Amino acid sequence: MVLRAMRPADAASVAAIAAETPAEGWTARAFEREVTTNAGARYLVAVEHGAVVGFGGLWLIVDQAHITNMGVALSHRGRGIGRLLLYALFDIATRAKVDSLTLEVRVSNDPARALYTQFGFYETGRRTAYYRDTGEDALIMTTESLISLPVFQRLQALRDHIQRDFPGILPVVAEAEFETGAN
Ligand SMILES: CC(C)(COP(=O)(O)OP(=O)(O)OC[C@H]1O[C@@H](n2cnc3c(N)ncnc32)[C@H](O)[C@@H]1OP(=O)(O)O)[C@@H](O)C(=O)NCCC(=O)NCCS
Repeated sequence: MVLRAMRPADAASVAAIAAETPAEGWTARAFEREVTTNAGARYLVAVEHGAVVGFGGLWLIVDQAHITNMGVALSHRGRGIGRLLLYALFDIATRAKVDSLTLEVRVSNDPARALYTQFGFYETGRRTAYYRDTGEDALIMTTESLISLPVFQRLQALRDHIQRDFPGILPVVAEAEFETGAN
């Protein structure tokens, strides 16, 4: 397993993974635009045997990071890849010195909510009928400040867990990989 910055050439594989679950309307073109034109976007892919098996991304917005989307190929779920990707996104956010992370998640999305809760996200609000396909509500979830001791300790424990699942995969992706030219 390798983690690296998403490249424009990954867009079709990433969109195929995104399409395996309730559609948020993320096309290959949308992912490509994110990594070519959005300076505040940071997207990662997990690659196994040359194939993209998971992705995750965030936007750096002043002192916050907003997780925009993440997903693991159906065939690869339940192996810790989601935890690995989310940890890597936290690592990027920490190095960018943002204060906290936010995201939106479907109320019915138990796997994602469990994953986010594991990282210390908690519910801070709700957007009624946010998802056009089902009319479902979105929960807004946020973390405590990334420099708080509980967050630090939680991330340390998660890091130990990931080291056991994927020996040698950390430290994660270097910021230079996201710079224009590396893609
Ligand atoms: C959410 C998602 C990314 C998790 O990826 P994954 O690689 O299968 O998850 P992991 O194996 O890393 O599991 C990490 C934690 O997530 C939670 N989790 C994962 N799958 C779960 C499931 N089916 N039911 C309940 N909790 C689950 C657990 O807390 C798990 O920790 P544990 O192994 O200690 O129990 C994956 O289910 C997915 O791609 N879903 C569709 C896309 C999506 O919903 N994205 C989020 C949009 S907001």
